[in-house]
Amino acid sequence: MKLAGQVAIVTGAGRNIGEEVSKLLASEGASIAVVDLDKARAEKVAADIVASGGKAQAFVCDVAKEADIEAAVKGVVAAFGRLDILVNNAAISDNKHMLEITTEEWNRTIAITLTAPFLFGKNAAKAMIEAGNGGKIVNVSSTSGYYGRNRAIGYTAAKGGVVNLTRSMAIQLAPHNIRVNSVVPNKIGSPVGKADFDPTRPVVNLRKRPGLPIDLARAILFLVSDDSDFIAGTDLFVDGGCSALMPGNE
Ligand SMILES: NC(=O)c1ccc[n+]([C@@H]2O[C@H](COP(=O)([O-])OP(=O)(O)OC[C@H]3O[C@@H](n4cnc5c(N)ncnc54)[C@H](O)[C@@H]3O)[C@@H](O)[C@H]2O)c1
Repeated sequence: MKLAGQVAIVTGAGRNIGEEVSKLLASEGASIAVVDLDKARAEKVAADIVASGGKAQAFVCDVAKEADIEAAVKGVVAAFGRLDILVNNAAISDNKHMLEITTEEWNRTIAITLTAPFLFGKNAAKAMIEAGNGGKIVNVSSTSGYYGRNRAIGYTAAKGGVVNLTRSMAIQLAPHNIRVNSVVPNKIGSPVGKADFDPTRPVVNLRKRPGLPIDLARAILFLVSDDSDFIAGTDLFVDGGCSALMPGNE
């Protein structure tokens, strides 16, 4: 078991990618804090993990609220006694054109998708430093953080921010033996904000198939385990190779 005795927070863990990450990390021995805004979803994922012999507890938290984040991190340390891993996975997409998005929609997208990884990182890092065991943080970015799109103006801006936030976090937390990296997925399972897989969603990549939540979960497991001990401040693309393609030449 690669994570025996360790404690991991996974945000947005109530379904899809966050759910798969939680279950994979639990299967490697980590105790999982299943953090989500949706109580029923978080409790179901935690119950599934416990039913298969793992350790997990649901934490209801709106990552757009700093007080919720502070309470969640404190609650995790109180429940499990330590904190080793943070996976900043929760995000929303505005799916809006810049001429149509309201300021309120922009602010909420940035709060959940960019500010929350910073605030969760800050609070989690303080807990990790206090415990003195170092730590690992993975920020879930997106190919939308590298390329412009014809919609999702807030989401693309936020994910671009997550990419460089990761580098600065990696530098600033390195003295505390906390490794920070990001993963960069493209079209994994259902679209962000949707529960169901859409088989008609166009997929253009080198693997000729949509990504599955387990594809990303395996990459995150690698980045939070000692197998990646010499890797810090990097972005791991988990996109079927789509970012290697020049548009029009596929
Ligand atoms: N699905 C994809 O194709 C894809 C592609 C690129 C990047 N990503 C990234 O992967 C991550 C997970 O995506 P997904 O498709 O599994 O998302 P999803 O929408 O299926 O699940 C997100 C979870 O986060 C929770 N959540 C939403 N707002 C929250 C808040 N304010 N506080 C706490 N929890 C909240 C939701 O309740 C939900 O359970 C996101 O960071 C997303 O940007 C996904």
